[in-house]
Amino acid sequence: MTSLSRRILQVKTSPTVALNAKAKALGKEGIKVLNFAVGEPDFPTPASVVDKAIASLRAGRTKYGPAGGGPEFLAAISNKLERDNGLKFATNEIVAGIGAKEILFHIFLALLNDGDEVLIPSPYWVSYPDQVIAAGGKPVPLPLPKDVAAEPLSIADIKRLATPRTVAIVLNSPNNPAGSMMDPKFLEELGSFLVDKPWWIISDEIYEYMSFDKPHVSLLKLFPQLRDRFILVNGLSKGAAMTGWRVGYCAGPAAAMKLVRDLQSHSSTCLPPFIEDAATFAIGQGRDLLKDEIGVLKKRRDLAIGLLSKIPNVKFAQPHGAFYILIDVRDALAKAGGKLDTYALSERLLLEQHIALVPGDAFGAPGYLRFSYTCDEATITAGLTKLGEGLANLAK
Ligand SMILES: Cc1ncc(COP(=O)(O)O)c(C=O)c1O
Repeated sequence: MTSLSRRILQVKTSPTVALNAKAKALGKEGIKVLNFAVGEPDFPTPASVVDKAIASLRAGRTKYGPAGGGPEFLAAISNKLERDNGLKFATNEIVAGIGAKEILFHIFLALLNDGDEVLIPSPYWVSYPDQVIAAGGKPVPLPLPKDVAAEPLSIADIKRLATPRTVAIVLNSPNNPAGSMMDPKFLEELGSFLVDKPWWIISDEIYEYMSFDKPHVSLLKLFPQLRDRFILVNGLSKGAAMTGWRVGYCAGPAAAMKLVRDLQSHSSTCLPPFIEDAATFAIGQGRDLLKDEIGVLKKRRDLAIGLLSKIPNVKFAQPHGAFYILIDVRDALAKAGGKLDTYALSERLLLEQHIALVPGDAFGAPGYLRFSYTCDEATITAGLTKLGEGLANLAK
């Protein structure tokens, strides 16, 4: 019989895809679903960026470009890393690709040998474990900390779960799905621990601009001695509202970057040059491009946490960034007799209250729901009212 890859058979379908499909099916029946499962800003890409792409298309920038990014875009990324993060990278230490997702996938493929272990702090972005599996590695999730906001990960857990096969750790701050951020004090502790470990540090900083209460700091800025094994990942999806344009990049040691670039040359080839031109402009604008919108997100965050704190039997980690809140519904589930898990709860909320929230299981956080607040204030208010009603109904 013809066979399928045992490795890829272990990769799971994204739970957000399944949830969105159910929400869409309800929509077809004429039911309006309030969708809080979304992983992208609701703001449009700024018109100034769109104009650049159109001008570039008209100028004929429609052919293949160089794998890993053209010189102008790479120079713009290098300037951004110095301007925003105080980090100097030459253009041969940077690779641009089709979203941070492709970049991360190629990083795991470039770094891992069969069975190599990658430490992934929970809660984590859904794709890290599956990408590690697809690259032949073994994801090793760290347990969920007691207070996700106060302690983004536990160094004691790393010590306990690290083995001689550990080759990398993934960091993600601001965090999807918790909205938590690693502050400089915690980074000092983490960096001091990591300096003498022979591991790659893959730092996913894609929500950098969505930091509301304190500035984002890259661990590499505080620990320059990590430079020969630190790979910074970022992109324009979130901070420039360009999810559909698929622009991501990484910066790290030239030898590793060469492998990531070589892989791209055999997969997607390159970013489309007209997209790069628009991205070069967007990255030059930096944080200012979406300054007003990020102010709006912060207001929504404040509204949502105010409303959530009034719902009984619910706790949540104070979110400082990204656009998510990780809601702890374990008490509400226990009060309802402990019969439901978060998958079943999420389905029930969708079918009965017509609200879509992603079950935390997919992020290594069973007992939690992820709430995205990339929608207007009236929708947030309506949705959280329905969540309160839905949870109250459970106990009846
Ligand atoms: C933490 C994190 N990293 C990476 C990505 C991938 O972003 P993109 O491929 O759109 O650049 C996402 C998208 O949801 C994310 O949440």
